[in-house]
Amino acid sequence: MEIFQKTAELMHWRNAHRPQSVGFVPTMGALHAGHISLVERAKSENHLTVCSIFVNPTQFNNADDLKYYPRTPEQDLEMLQAAGCDAVFMPDEVEMYAAPPQMRLHFGNLEQVMEGAHRPGHFNGVGLVVSKLFHMVQPDVAYFGQKDLQQFLIIKRLVTDLSFPVRLVCCPVVREPDGLAMSSRNMRLSKQAREQAPALYRALNVAKQRILNGEKPDLVCAEVAAQLNENPSFHVEYLVLVDTENLRQVHHPQACEEYALCIAAFVEQVRLIDNLIFRM
Ligand code: PAJ
Repeated sequence: MEIFQKTAELMHWRNAHRPQSVGFVPTMGALHAGHISLVERAKSENHLTVCSIFVNPTQFNNADDLKYYPRTPEQDLEMLQAAGCDAVFMPDEVEMYAAPPQMRLHFGNLEQVMEGAHRPGHFNGVGLVVSKLFHMVQPDVAYFGQKDLQQFLIIKRLVTDLSFPVRLVCCPVVREPDGLAMSSRNMRLSKQAREQAPALYRALNVAKQRILNGEKPDLVCAEVAAQLNENPSFHVEYLVLVDTENLRQVHHPQACEEYALCIAAFVEQVRLIDNLIFRM
């Protein structure tokens, strides 16, 4: 497995391997089985697989979240090697941002809701870093997780609006045996918070079932969020039923249509997100 810290070295390697197809998995490290599922998918569909590890400062709107974001580079490299990844790109901050970026990306309605509404500037930072990475890696296909559904839709928009010649693949959420969606931030949960966190996934399933039974989504979401909030360790930021294409909130779901139930909640100090996609 090749490890590159410099863009020029990565691009040299990429050019030396044309015309082989490259599948690309961008990450912020602290890898878990969810990330590895993307690497495996990329491997199964391309000649070569590239993974990037870069904790991107421009997408953090909270200094503590950036400071305490887990960093486990040695373990990450071992996992990528074991998964058969061909090359890892691990730039430092100066390599990625020679100067503070001045341009701003806007994603219209897509960034006004959910994560966009609660994390100002977050998707600008994601859009910038993914654009840079696409230029550097020049992948044929890029793999993202449904866990970050809004991020996937934002990147789809980015690829369309800026004509990146990259095909995007959205991969299913990988969960712990108790249902908790795998996340690098799970490492930051206290023992007690880790025991309680699967309640988010259970809540999504309860809400889904009630909506499928014909109850009104707004009422269901309000009640299920209130039940979670009864536990003082939880603070739900949103629980909403949305259209999976444009993330507009859905008040009157139609038969046979596909929707996503999305949640963001603090469990003690750690902010977690999750979602379920289902058809009525
Ligand atoms: P990160 O949170 O490290 O996630 C990297 C990729 O792994 C994302 O596409 C994410 O959706 C996916 N992923 C995370 N948890 C998953 C799970 N449980 N199951 C399946 N896939 C999962 O998302 C980012 O990094 C950054 O915003 C990035 C795109 C790298 C830009 O900095």
